[in-house]
Amino acid sequence: MERIVSNHAAGIGPERDQPVLEVRGLTKSFFGNPVLQDASLTLHPGEVHGVVGENGAGKSTLMKILAGVYQRDSGTVLLRGQSVQFSHPTQAHEAGLSTVFQEFNLLPDRTVAENIYLGREPRKGLLVSRAKMNAATADLLDSLGIGFIRPTSLARSLSVAEQQIVEIAKAVSYDARIISMDEPTAALSGPEVDLLYGIVQRLAERGTGILYVSHRLREIFDLCETITVLKDGRIVDTKPAAELDDASLVRMMVGRPISAYFPDKLPAEPAAESQTAEGPAATPGEATAPTPLLELDGAGNDQLDGIGLKLMPGEIVGVAGLQGSGRTELLHAVFGAAPFNRGTMQLDGRPARPHSPRQAVRHGIALITEDRKAQGLSLNQSLLDNALGVVRAVFPGRTSTVRREVAGSFSILEVVARDLDQEVQYLSGGNQQKIVLAKWLAVSPRVVLLDEPTRGIDVGAKVAVYRLMRQLAAEGKGVLMVSSELPEVIGMSDRILVMRDGQLAGELPAGATEEEILRLATGARVPGWTPEGGHLTDPQPDGGAHPGGGQPDGDGHPSGGQPKGWPRVPEDGSTTGGTA
Ligand SMILES: Nc1ncnc2c1ncn2[C@@H]1O[C@H](COP(=O)(O)OP(=O)(O)OP(=O)(O)O)[C@@H](O)[C@H]1O
Ligand SMILES: [Mg+2]
Repeated sequence: MERIVSNHAAGIGPERDQPVLEVRGLTKSFFGNPVLQDASLTLHPGEVHGVVGENGAGKSTLMKILAGVYQRDSGTVLLRGQSVQFSHPTQAHEAGLSTVFQEFNLLPDRTVAENIYLGREPRKGLLVSRAKMNAATADLLDSLGIGFIRPTSLARSLSVAEQQIVEIAKAVSYDARIISMDEPTAALSGPEVDLLYGIVQRLAERGTGILYVSHRLREIFDLCETITVLKDGRIVDTKPAAELDDASLVRMMVGRPISAYFPDKLPAEPAAESQTAEGPAATPGEATAPTPLLELDGAGNDQLDGIGLKLMPGEIVGVAGLQGSGRTELLHAVFGAAPFNRGTMQLDGRPARPHSPRQAVRHGIALITEDRKAQGLSLNQSLLDNALGVVRAVFPGRTSTVRREVAGSFSILEVVARDLDQEVQYLSGGNQQKIVLAKWLAVSPRVVLLDEPTRGIDVGAKVAVYRLMRQLAAEGKGVLMVSSELPEVIGMSDRILVMRDGQLAGELPAGATEEEILRLATGARVPGWTPEGGHLTDPQPDGGAHPGGGQPDGDGHPSGGQPKGWPRVPEDGSTTGGTA
């Protein structure tokens, strides 16, 4: 596979042979649990070095040690030949090492410029010079090809993707020789990922060494010339990307080949009727003709219009659409978070329109989103308490039963944790996401709404989530899944609903192609869409508020139409592709 960023960037010359960063024998334990063991890697100027591994492998810990957030137990770190040990991220910045963290945090009520220059504002005499600061920020953003972000905008007015891009600009602003990026694209989609590619390319050309952590293998192959695989805190190997492909890389990460990326359907379970949901469904001896679990007719609100759909027991229905097409809003409306105000909604054949998430949960609906913060994981509480959170709040009587089942559901989801009492804040990002799943499944919902269920989850765990979806369907539950990953939509759905502009643009059967979906999603206008890429984002974002509004110019667009950000699902299903 051809890489996009050249390592022989102009002007680097012989310096290229001198590593800019050497990590040797790094070891770190938390409370006696080894998280990194004898980890070593070398980074050269202008090199983009991918670091991959399953959830909990130790990638973020490694980045945090380099950044001075955590202290290593032993080992050495050499920056341009000099041994360093940082006790605070500021020290790392000053030495030329910047980090874009997995969980980013701009100050919401400060401007872009204030965030970037926080603590080192340019001054005129004693006073901060806003003019200088804004001008410097504008130059910086321009030089990275993201001049459409205004230095004076408040951070909270930016989209999540723009915030992420500002985080990256901030890291760059320290004039870093080394930038490590921990899942920089987790919040980004199509055109924004292209922007990031452009930024990485520019940095590499300037001779900056880049450590790039991602679960999206396509990005790793597009951007990186070297790949280091971490597993259980140890380096499995470091190899030139050219010597690896999806299958061999996944095997190194997971330790086994992954077969049947999208698992087959399971036979329906005989007692598929739920015994646990308290919704209006619970009438025993109901007629045998299947009643839809969920039925909408002409449903709408401020953001949605004329939605008609049925979700049958045992069905997995995928919802595809561009960003902003109303996919998430649809889930929120069904969940009562932003309820419908017209049309009809029925649950198990009876009118029901939850006006709050609590009511929705009582009706047997669960909504699982990708946003761990908004999902209210209590970071300083234990896994167990988090997993029981919704049950306790809505069905207190079931708590003790569910408590007994929690360990089982964690093992199905392959949660990597010390024990059930461990605080959630100490889990890796992907494992936190799995706790969110467990917490909602604990209420035994009949209608499961999933919004980007596998974002930030590693390849092995993705398969676990897919299996779980099949299991839910076999139990007679209905799954409505919003996903931007077309292979996931195609691989898992019995039917595919495509949204456009707040409405259903159409429905496709299982086995639809990416092209058919995109044609519906875009209303047959598919500029900027690459069939291989398959990335479902608006090719023509409207207006400057959207980060995609600043399409990278010719040379800032490194992809050259190459597929990226996406797993290619092999025909024989024998291996997995990259992940998003
Ligand atoms: N502050 C901490 N205290 C205790 N344990 C921690 C702490 N930070 C991380 N860990 C543990 O270290 C291990 C490695 O976590 P890390 O966040 O480095 O994984 P990761 O490779 O970045 O995973 P992901 O892909 O899910 O982000 C995990 O088992 C995690 O629970
Ligand atoms: Mg991590």
